[in-house]
Amino acid sequence: MAATIIDGKTIAANLRKTIAAEVAGLNAKHGLKPGLAVVLVGQNPASEVYVRSKSKAVVEAGMMPIDHKLPETTSEKDLLALIGKLNADPAVSGILVQLPLPPQIDSQKVIAAIDPAKDVDGFHPVNVGRLSSGLSSLVPCTPFGSVLLAKTVKPSLAGLDAVVIGRSNIVGKPVAQLLLAENATVTVAHSKTRDLPGLCRRADILVAAIGRPEFVKADWIKPGATVIDVGINRVAGEGGKNRIVGDVAYDEAAKVAGAITPVPGGVGPMTIACLILNTLKAACAQNGLPEPQFQD
Ligand code: GUN
Repeated sequence: MAATIIDGKTIAANLRKTIAAEVAGLNAKHGLKPGLAVVLVGQNPASEVYVRSKSKAVVEAGMMPIDHKLPETTSEKDLLALIGKLNADPAVSGILVQLPLPPQIDSQKVIAAIDPAKDVDGFHPVNVGRLSSGLSSLVPCTPFGSVLLAKTVKPSLAGLDAVVIGRSNIVGKPVAQLLLAENATVTVAHSKTRDLPGLCRRADILVAAIGRPEFVKADWIKPGATVIDVGINRVAGEGGKNRIVGDVAYDEAAKVAGAITPVPGGVGPMTIACLILNTLKAACAQNGLPEPQFQD
């Protein structure tokens, strides 16, 4: 049987609509308009595309975009000074510094300078620690979106075997923590893992976050498994045009999996929807309002 295609584009659009309605209500009731500061240093073309779609989503949700584009030569000191200003500005509910940063800037220092209450990326050590301690926190957007997508086909992940391929701070480690919080039995695989195909074949939930085009093959997948493909890889396509593929060989995998996210149109749109959701959560917390309850 062909796999269910998990339509991240539609699921994300619905989530964004729900968020926009909540924002409109907050605005009417409390005069509150959440603001998201997005900081881009330099001209990485992929980062420019992401930043543009983030700002568009902010506007569509009825929030305030606060965009800062800084030159490639920006010093760490100047960037830290900007973060200090954004931390102190009550109009700024969330701060996102687009990664990667140029080599003269220490990313960890910048992340640590963001007020954890405004850390909508969930990368600050306080939020990382809170997530791994099972406390409420701002959660990294791609992992958050990945788990929400998995739960559209498997509402309870309790007791399921989950394998995460990749151990990055942005995806692999936080998605493992979220799956653990959902009571899955989680294994994190990486470049030194032995018999990766054999390990993956045990997974009821397989999350691929390696950054290698079509790396995961059909015979790595347990029949009926849920496959969440976090990869976004640009490869040469026909006629000299680039095409985007995931970390999973989609066409063959879809014949074995029970459900699978496509690339594009799977995890990518959910990342942006979760960023908007985190901005809303941050704004509510900063204004002493209860957390919106609709995301599960
Ligand atoms: N670069 C790639 N992914 C991300 C992300 O989730 N957040 C930020 N800030 N930068 C990124």
